[in-house]
Amino acid sequence: MAWTLRSLTMLLFLAYLQAIEEEDIRAGCSTAVNDLVYIIDGSWSVGQSDFKKAKSWLVNITSGFDISSHYSQVAVVQYSDTPRLEIPLGKHHGGPDLIQAIEGISYLGGNTQTGRAIKFAVDHVFPSSQRTSTVKNRIAVVVTDGKSQDDVVDASVEARAQGVIVFAVGVGTEITTSELMSIANKPGGTYVLYAEDYANIDRIRDSMEQRLCEESVCPTRIPVASRDEKGFELILGMNIHQKTKKIQGSLVSETAFSLTTSTDITENTREIFPEGLPPSYVFVATVRLKGSAKQDKFDLLRILSKDGVTQAAVTLNGAYKSVTFTTTSTTNEEQLVTFNVHGIGSFFDEGWHQLKLLVRPRQVTGFLDDEEIQEVALLEPVEPIYINGKTQVAKKFGAETTVPVEIQKLRLYCDPHQSERETACEIYSVCLH
Ligand SMILES: *[C@@H]1O[C@H](CO)[C@@H](O)[C@H](O)[C@H]1NC(C)=O
Repeated sequence: MAWTLRSLTMLLFLAYLQAIEEEDIRAGCSTAVNDLVYIIDGSWSVGQSDFKKAKSWLVNITSGFDISSHYSQVAVVQYSDTPRLEIPLGKHHGGPDLIQAIEGISYLGGNTQTGRAIKFAVDHVFPSSQRTSTVKNRIAVVVTDGKSQDDVVDASVEARAQGVIVFAVGVGTEITTSELMSIANKPGGTYVLYAEDYANIDRIRDSMEQRLCEESVCPTRIPVASRDEKGFELILGMNIHQKTKKIQGSLVSETAFSLTTSTDITENTREIFPEGLPPSYVFVATVRLKGSAKQDKFDLLRILSKDGVTQAAVTLNGAYKSVTFTTTSTTNEEQLVTFNVHGIGSFFDEGWHQLKLLVRPRQVTGFLDDEEIQEVALLEPVEPIYINGKTQVAKKFGAETTVPVEIQKLRLYCDPHQSERETACEIYSVCLH
């Protein structure tokens, strides 16, 4: 009897462990572990009707997050002369509950003491979190329409000292760029956003959502020339630099890595993309395909679930001269788009080439050596990826065999605008003007 009870307890315990594991295996922005504090301007200059728009915008930028004690917690501070805590951190679980609370906030009116409001959030709201040791990102979004009547510098410096990331959203023409810059983290290009007026604030909704998401799922930075870009450097992340032979790349100054059939580039997805992928990103690969690599059908990069279902993949098919991008779908296991236009053919000509895929929520654009080759629509919305499987490089389609390729660059940038900045000048003929 005692034994049976014990084994029953054991079984229950194992089932419980499995349930925990199952629960957080899909990862993306929605499942990021964030404490988010919105600090909104409720001074006289805003007015009732624009204040309503500001609230609606907060609701909109929050819709991508799973609001719960496991994932994102949200607090709202409204301020004028003094800050008022409208919604305490973690009070609402579930989106609809939070939306109702945000919509129910009544307009304060008064002066604009932005510095004081930021200080209040840093000193009182963030520290009130029930999970100060487990939260991954602490992010403040300051929405303001006018020049602050107090100093914002000290409070913002304090926020950074506490590890709080601050976004500054300026609405209208009264607000000065220098003030927004001193409120926000650097670089301003990432952490400062503008809207002409509250009627136009919806225009910066996508970029705000993307940036909040990048902040949540793209912790690492790739050093690129003068700036650090958020993203994943897969040559290092996947240990390609340690497992392969170094060779000269596309230029004398470039190093590349030569994979052979006995190389195995496989890592646990959890190690590579611990928080999943953002809704938009740029995949860049500079490779040379020779021998079997130019005829085989193989996955240059693939992320598989534990059961082997593709979560994301870039598949090259030399025989058909095509490139296929696979991603998740809300209705099927996966969805794919194929680039097979004439322009992609030279990819398989044994020379060095740079393939770039700009992935957006509903479309994927392919580039080869800086030339746009095709833009293809994604028919279904994408789901967060499973991160409890494997991520692999240069594997034969549907098999574990490595296809020998030479790789110089393999990166995933989180900012879609990196697509314009990342040139293929490493390919000699491309920038030979
Ligand atoms: C919020 O989203 C809804 C639906 O997309 C849109 O109609 C509304 O204008 C948005 N509100 C703001 C202020 O961005």
